[in-house]
Amino acid sequence: MPFDNSPFAPVSEFARAIAGLFSVTLIIGGAIFLLVLLLVIYVSIRYRYRGEGGYPPQVMGRRNLEIAWTVAPGLLLVGLFIFTLRVMVVSDPSHASSQTPDLKIIAHQWWWEVRYPPSGAVTANEIHIPAGKRMLTEIESADVIHDFWVPQLGRKIDATPGHPTTIWLVADDPGTYLGRCAEYCGVQHANMQIRVIAESQDAFDQWIQQQVAVPATPDSGQAAEGAALFQQLPCSNCHAILGTDAGATIGPDLTHVGLRETLAAGVLENSPGNLAQWIGDPQAYKPGAHMPNLHLTGDQINQLVAYLEALK
Ligand code: CUA
Repeated sequence: MPFDNSPFAPVSEFARAIAGLFSVTLIIGGAIFLLVLLLVIYVSIRYRYRGEGGYPPQVMGRRNLEIAWTVAPGLLLVGLFIFTLRVMVVSDPSHASSQTPDLKIIAHQWWWEVRYPPSGAVTANEIHIPAGKRMLTEIESADVIHDFWVPQLGRKIDATPGHPTTIWLVADDPGTYLGRCAEYCGVQHANMQIRVIAESQDAFDQWIQQQVAVPATPDSGQAAEGAALFQQLPCSNCHAILGTDAGATIGPDLTHVGLRETLAAGVLENSPGNLAQWIGDPQAYKPGAHMPNLHLTGDQINQLVAYLEALK
């Protein structure tokens, strides 16, 4: 569907308010554009020069007309201004400053870190929320200015380094809602996808429990070799895996990477084949990304993939 994932398919009261303002502004603007266009066409045909000597009679001002075309747009602007103020209040209600956020989203070049302060769960790029519940969400950046935008759920908001802001994130119905970084932030700006996965409260609680659990360390086979390799190679300098020595927060937390739908902020679907391609040459899929090509052998890649895909 052409309007899937667009502001015209709102799934929260905040997004509905914004969609209403958007539609009304678009209709009024479109009507004025059409009116002006038709008048220009009419006047150019009706009063065109017909070669009958000299100028036609010149009209130099009509007070009533001038008052009308000053007052009418003025009233229209005042109306739109009041409507906009109302939508601003409805689409972004305030909250007590003492309230702990349910979610913290930290933008990075070029992925999203997702933290759940109440439980301590950490993930990346895929934001699970319980459908119908307002999640107070703190937005910040670790490097440059990014912008968090999931059109069906609500307003856009800048992610600014050193200046956290908050929004309410809510989806009325279960489903997956796509969003993107909406502020140019460097070469891979286009590949900073957001997936908001709204599910029932039970499914969400279960997901949180999974996320805070320490995954089992494999003790045999390729996966065990991959686990050892992960600690020896530079992987652990940037990534964290709960229950191991890897605790860095430069790249996405990989504790439960096997449970995610996508890799590299939505660039690839999560499958063993794609993960192998990605680890083998990240720059081929996301040129400029901070994940380097480690020039791994085929065996090393297979071992790492076996390990990472088992992290559930
Ligand atoms: Cu991050 Cu654009």
